[in-house]
Amino acid sequence: MPAQAGVDTHARPQRFREARTARPGAVMFAHRLAVLADRPALEELAGAAIDQLQRDYLQPDQIAASRAIMGVDTQLIQDGTYFVVHHEGRLAGCGGWSRRATLYGGDEIAGRNDSMLDPAVDAARIRAMYTHPRFARRGVGRVVLSLCEAAAAAAGFQRLELMATMAGQPLYTSYGFAPVERVDHASGGAIVPLVRMVKPVTRRGASSDGP
Ligand SMILES: CC(C)(COP(=O)(O)OP(=O)(O)OC[C@H]1O[C@@H](n2cnc3c(N)ncnc32)[C@H](O)[C@@H]1OP(=O)(O)O)[C@@H](O)C(=O)NCCC(=O)NCCS
Repeated sequence: MPAQAGVDTHARPQRFREARTARPGAVMFAHRLAVLADRPALEELAGAAIDQLQRDYLQPDQIAASRAIMGVDTQLIQDGTYFVVHHEGRLAGCGGWSRRATLYGGDEIAGRNDSMLDPAVDAARIRAMYTHPRFARRGVGRVVLSLCEAAAAAAGFQRLELMATMAGQPLYTSYGFAPVERVDHASGGAIVPLVRMVKPVTRRGASSDGP
């Protein structure tokens, strides 16, 4: 699939922008759009997040099964809709949004649908959110969601939709998403519980990242 016009994802990373989390003693995070060269580091980060940050929510066999569902979606990098977040030079997290129909899953998941959504009627997707365990609960997820919401709003979308893991649901609930459907994804002999969640676009933040 060719890259989005105007977004050269083979290029060297663009300059970082900075975002401060809203809480007291806020941590300063830098962010930029991901490029294809980031992919190995992002896969490693996603693996650590999947394995370590789901332990309070899933059994070991479910975590192993979720490895087959989750991961980085290269299409998002190619589309210029995937963010990386750093703190003092260390990769802290990643996540993105999409104007394509696929709702969840990494590169390998079955049933992908790369068709383009219509901002006038469809909800933009929030996709592939991962925080390195070292940076958990420091506001990385919230920063990524704000960037995604601002970029989706700039593209004309009125609503956001995602498929949440059990580990992701508290973040999305705190950000204003509401659950609409419980989904059991059968994978590798285990059932991985997921929740489809939606939210109207309300924050047209200051981010100018995105295509
Ligand atoms: C889901 C995930 C991305 C959250 O990232 P994070 O950077 O730790 O989230 P934030 O620090 O921005 O959290 C913001 C708020 O969300 C809520 N929240 C996030 N994680 C929570 C948890 N484990 N328990 C309770 N509330 C939580 C809190 O309200 C939090 O604010 P607070 O820390 O001031 O109380 C991370 O846990 C992760 O990578 N999980 C494994 C992979 C995964 O399941 N990804 C989601 C795919 S849909």
